[in-house]
Amino acid sequence: MKGLFSLIPAVAVAMSADAQTADKNIIRISTDNTDLVLEVGPNKRLYQTYLGPKLLHAEDLSNLSWCQHAGSDASVSTRGWEVYSTSGNEDYFDPALGITHSDGNMSTYLYYISSSSEAVDGGVHTRINLCDDKYPVSVTINYIAYTRENVIKTWTEISHKEKGPVTMSQYASAMLYFNRSAYWLTEFSSDWAKEAQMSTQQLLFGKKVIDTKLGSRAAMFTHPFFEIGLDGPAKEHSGDVLMGTLGWTGNFRFTFEIDNVGNLRVIPGINPYASSYELVADEVFTTPEFIFTLSYDGIGQGSRNLHDWARKYGLKDGEGERMSLLNNWENTGFKFNHEILEQLMKDAKHLGVDMFLLDDGWFGNKYPRKNDRTGLGDWEATRDKLPAGIPALVNAAKDAGVRFGIWIEPEMVNPKSELYEKHPDWVIEQPNRETYYYRNQLVLDMSNPKVQNHVFSVVDNILCDNPDVAYFKWDCNSPITNIYSPYAGKKQGQLYVDHVKGIYNVLRRVRDKYPDVQMMLCSGGGARCDYEALKYFTEFWCSDNTDPIERIYIQWGFSQFFPSKAIAAHVTNWNKDTSVKFRTDVAAMCRLGFDIGLNKLTTEDLEFCQQAIANWKRLSPAIMDGDQYRLVSPYEGNHAAVEYVDKSGNMAVVFAYNLAPRFQEKLQAVKLQGLDPNNKYLVREINLMPGTESKYSWNGRTYTGDYLMKIGLDIFTYRHNTSAVIELEVVR
Ligand code: DGJ
Repeated sequence: MKGLFSLIPAVAVAMSADAQTADKNIIRISTDNTDLVLEVGPNKRLYQTYLGPKLLHAEDLSNLSWCQHAGSDASVSTRGWEVYSTSGNEDYFDPALGITHSDGNMSTYLYYISSSSEAVDGGVHTRINLCDDKYPVSVTINYIAYTRENVIKTWTEISHKEKGPVTMSQYASAMLYFNRSAYWLTEFSSDWAKEAQMSTQQLLFGKKVIDTKLGSRAAMFTHPFFEIGLDGPAKEHSGDVLMGTLGWTGNFRFTFEIDNVGNLRVIPGINPYASSYELVADEVFTTPEFIFTLSYDGIGQGSRNLHDWARKYGLKDGEGERMSLLNNWENTGFKFNHEILEQLMKDAKHLGVDMFLLDDGWFGNKYPRKNDRTGLGDWEATRDKLPAGIPALVNAAKDAGVRFGIWIEPEMVNPKSELYEKHPDWVIEQPNRETYYYRNQLVLDMSNPKVQNHVFSVVDNILCDNPDVAYFKWDCNSPITNIYSPYAGKKQGQLYVDHVKGIYNVLRRVRDKYPDVQMMLCSGGGARCDYEALKYFTEFWCSDNTDPIERIYIQWGFSQFFPSKAIAAHVTNWNKDTSVKFRTDVAAMCRLGFDIGLNKLTTEDLEFCQQAIANWKRLSPAIMDGDQYRLVSPYEGNHAAVEYVDKSGNMAVVFAYNLAPRFQEKLQAVKLQGLDPNNKYLVREINLMPGTESKYSWNGRTYTGDYLMKIGLDIFTYRHNTSAVIELEVVR
């Protein structure tokens, strides 16, 4: 032990008053309902002693002991539960941090130096500084505990002062431990048009890894979020569940490892796949934020925690209003001109939406964007199609009385473009191998500051010339292919990470300069949906699959982690076998839009849509900003129901769907939630087709909240692919 603390300053083990509890060695990170308790062991290393429901008595914290978790032999003083476990020490499971020091030594031991905490918007930010005793490597672990929302955000900063570079092979955002009887993982598998499909399995001894290697986006085959049912499979309305998500728009990895004594270790972070990161002295490497909540009342409460948190602290303009819109992608594809768009803007107004959104296909002159093979990168309006350019479109929208939004995909390039001809070195592409194309395009090298400037200028130029552009749909249709950066030189191992950091540099500039412009995050459907990107976006496109039956599942999946306000849903012609009403009712559970030719709608359908939009706007305090209750899961039967209650409790709305009920199967009443049992509610079916009346006996009657929550309403029927929307209004 000679020289053990030679590098640790004498002020070590001095906690600020805020971070202290009665016991100097204990750090308590608390929300209203949850405690995460850490303890500096006698060996000066930092251990997690507790993570669970809030403890009532501070004196109990000192009864928690880091060594009680140390495994069968509690006298082995340094095993297990270290808050940020490192490689090369006596813990034989996956570490959070793996470092090769400049002299080739691969071990790191982190000792407590100091900690502090300060009040921040919505909570408390705790910083804990750790340092190796033999190498000048420092790690700061950060936690922001959002008190009322019961959400904790954690991330880590790593730096060093060694003489040569230090290489990091693993650099997780955090590590959490659980000591429970069983662990059930719910993951969200995905693919194009098949996003957020939920499946659950029990975790047993050993490791389960969920990761992606797509480079320019987090998701395609799986999403960067998970749920762990503690003691049993996670349930919607009861039981303990951990819900976690990583804010990183690139390769991510979640490792779940059950160790020799049946404890679970959760390690979220960047996927270090092909990404050994060389850290130079004094550079601070900041990991992505891991955002989690613990609910003791099932997933539904966990989701509401995250929804509240996201609206307040997660999304760009999370508390602002959202615009309903008419998009042209599914309707016209690439085939449009100024006159067609002008008519669509008038249609948007007639429909009653707030905005017209012009999608792909408006740009490129040398290589006009007639299809997805050309033009990407050349952000000038195609003269043949749009002779007067975007300014004329913005004016046409003004004349029609709607706002104007526009699609871009600025991080990408078609090889058939002027941009690629001018700057082949701006592209991620192998110098000495045949190029592989995904959707006929390549990814611009966002690690290159010149490319970052170019990408920023795509948005900046449009907005400088057209300050009235109100909205961008920012697409990203290709994962990184042919991984090689002409800019990175020998540091190719950092490209996956630096590329994503480059994207954030651009997005930060866009948000800072244009805080009021609404932005949709899109990635060939819903392949980008993480909370770091969403700091810069008001919403995301969750799938190109707008078949309403599929959407019920897809939106159900995303709703676990994201509020409806963040999820864009459009009524299209996918699955024309279903009615326009059914399609609209499904889309109305999120930020409602349309992507359909009005001239193809019947008079009744059009009238229905106009009425449904007006209803959606009126009920928006509940749907967009209220509490969501997932009442009946489509995964558990042939029906689904979701309820939204506005924060004042005065208004609620239930969306109910009959998917494919069996002949004379037992139909259950739908029991509502989140109402005041002593209030009386007028219950009315809305979103009815013009000229039809509700057939429900409860329509127009008044019920107490108690009745609605204990007995419920008979809403479900045997009619396949049908829906009902029910509005509840408090009667005083
Ligand atoms: C993929 C998106 O998901 C679609 O909505 C559409 O914008 C196309 N890209 C356009 O190329």
